[in-house]
Amino acid sequence: MPDTATFTHRFIPVGKRGPVLLLLHGTGGNEDDLLDLGRSLHPGAALLSPRGKVLENGMPRFFRRLAEGVFDEADLIRRTHELADFVVAAAAEYQLQTRKIVAVGYSNGANIAASILLLRPGTLAGAVLLRAMLPIVPENLPNLAGIPVLLAAGREDSFIPPESTNQLATLLQKAGADLTLRWSDRGHQLEPKEIEEARLWLKANFQ
Ligand code: MLT
Repeated sequence: MPDTATFTHRFIPVGKRGPVLLLLHGTGGNEDDLLDLGRSLHPGAALLSPRGKVLENGMPRFFRRLAEGVFDEADLIRRTHELADFVVAAAAEYQLQTRKIVAVGYSNGANIAASILLLRPGTLAGAVLLRAMLPIVPENLPNLAGIPVLLAAGREDSFIPPESTNQLATLLQKAGADLTLRWSDRGHQLEPKEIEEARLWLKANFQ
């Protein structure tokens, strides 16, 4: 029986309506990292923010990697299901079943959010993927019909190969997702205008 004790996390209820933002930090982050971002992206949203359970040289992540950009696929699959189960358990414990759960992930957090979309469709009502790549090619194409996904990528990103972001975009579109792909001229760091775009996108799709 999955329960919320499986992940150290923060839950901040805020409003009783509007979406729940599932905040997923990057490598070396924690459950506090994206709270301010979440508040600024959607002031009425509830925030659910787990800490990744894998440690890489003491730095929390959501799944193991063998090298930069080379993922331990078995671990990724296991961790994806574990995180999706946590989301289901949190929705029950915090009475969020009627609310839309939208992931907001950065880097490693964006990659596991993409993996949840691909391996556990139905868990998320949408996703903001900030600097994501293709984490895994699923055996079966999921049905993501009409699921809004914002993919914010950096042309000069040295951690996330642009071609892998494009592969993810193509796969999400093939699965039926309502994809918005935005390219910034920056690298791995986000620029303020991308945050503003994400805020407007959330407002348009998840009031
Ligand atoms: C990953 O490992 O998920 C990506 O390379 C992004 C990161 O550096 O965390």
